[in-house]
Amino acid sequence: MSGNNRVYLFDTTLRDGEQSPGVSLNVEEKLEIAQQLSRLGVDVIEAGFPIASPGDFAAVKRIAGTVKGPVITGLCRAKKSDIDRTWEAIKEAESPRIHTFLATSDIHLKYKLQKSREEVLFQAAEAVKYAKKYCSDVEFSAEDASRSDLDFLAQVVESVIDAGATVVNLPDTVGYAVPDEFGHFIKEIMSRVPNMDKAIISVHCHDDLGMAVANSIAGLLNGARQVECAVNGIGERAGNASLEEIIMALYTRQSFYEKEINVKYDEIYRTSRLVSTLTGMMIQPNKAIVGKNAFSHEAGIHQDGVLKERSTYEIMSPELVGVSRSNLVLGKHSGRHAFKERMHELGYELSVEELDKAFISFKDIADKKKEITNEDLEALVKDKVLAIPERFSLTYLHISSGTSIVPTATVKLAIEGIAFESAATGDGPVAAACRAVDKITDIYGKMHDYKLNAVTSGKDALGEVVSHIEIDGKMYNGRGLSTDIIEASVKSYVNAINKYYYEKQRNREGFGSNH
Ligand code: KIV
Ligand code: ZN
Repeated sequence: MSGNNRVYLFDTTLRDGEQSPGVSLNVEEKLEIAQQLSRLGVDVIEAGFPIASPGDFAAVKRIAGTVKGPVITGLCRAKKSDIDRTWEAIKEAESPRIHTFLATSDIHLKYKLQKSREEVLFQAAEAVKYAKKYCSDVEFSAEDASRSDLDFLAQVVESVIDAGATVVNLPDTVGYAVPDEFGHFIKEIMSRVPNMDKAIISVHCHDDLGMAVANSIAGLLNGARQVECAVNGIGERAGNASLEEIIMALYTRQSFYEKEINVKYDEIYRTSRLVSTLTGMMIQPNKAIVGKNAFSHEAGIHQDGVLKERSTYEIMSPELVGVSRSNLVLGKHSGRHAFKERMHELGYELSVEELDKAFISFKDIADKKKEITNEDLEALVKDKVLAIPERFSLTYLHISSGTSIVPTATVKLAIEGIAFESAATGDGPVAAACRAVDKITDIYGKMHDYKLNAVTSGKDALGEVVSHIEIDGKMYNGRGLSTDIIEASVKSYVNAINKYYYEKQRNREGFGSNH
């Protein structure tokens, strides 16, 4: 099967996904995600919105210059200055694409743009013509397409294709559509546009009514060839269509949909974990495909059925998406070789230096925790290997806390090998320790969000804390890992401070800031 059945996967985790409230990724984190998306095999990576901030620009530029394989695109409004900036950011990509957008619904025209339909029609075509001077691959998005007047939208689509658009995206920007209606809408527009054979139609659905994936697939069944989605379904408000759900629906129901995609299925789980870790957006346990419970069978009848024959209750195998069934544990007696082998099995090819770092951390945790599982190892490798350079590292923590005493913390941080100590009180042990950290670093963070997750089950489970810390008016995600949840909390706070410090350093050196 090929030709018109091939569906192109456009990933917008780094653009629409990063617009999720509270999410802020630095350049290195975005690059890490882009590299993983390339390993997964998506066709297009939307790396950011270059005019939005110097940090976005720097990240898109870095990804364009580094990540090979997928088309790299950056978003821009239908304005010359935006288009210039996006081109500047993506021009070094192997296959660059300019993605420009303008709203087409009467609601947006009247209240947001204060423009007439004629003005929008003209501006859209002019923007595409302008972008086309730089780049042969140009995508135009008609924002709020699903609530636009059909005749007018068809006119816009025809004129941007005439201007050279190679892809025309028809988003359900506010997640208002329902599947039958959306499928019909795509078919209708395609039938009304005479030059439709010169471009492909894309769909981009939001999940406000929980129908983003169903709407996207309805669009594909009615002629769309590109689908825009985000890992774990993150994105503006209720998020975007979830990448992993679209992929696995098309794969599992291939004989029904008859669509072809080209991805490495066993990279799905790893991609999901990486995005969750770096964005700090945890995955609900019952999330399809990548949730903790997605392949667990609880009821006795189900367990019995699965033991007799997996297909009784399983429509896809966990291994296919990269979830390992064999989770043989490592412990404190496991050697470097076994550790390296397991890392290899988990898909991490570490340099000698990275392996050293991760192994020291493994031994440290193995002293406190009897059995180390794959989930622990993944958490550990992300904590150590993917981390940004540490200006401040926690070397000592003593807490005195209880029901009738004022929580007090003594903290030691190493700064370039020199130990600094401070003590403070607070409303709780974490607050006391963070205050002591502030006194040493002279950087004052405000905690906005705090999530504690047990990486595995059991009393000695590793605790993973993700906090959103505001420093100097900006948000930083901090992450900390330990068998002791207070220590994990303080580590996550110190991690956010390190990110802030790192960004400040890079700005000083002229590398561009975070988002
Ligand atoms: O939801 C939307 O309409 C968008 C466009 C800018 C593509 O994100
Ligand atoms: Zn969107």
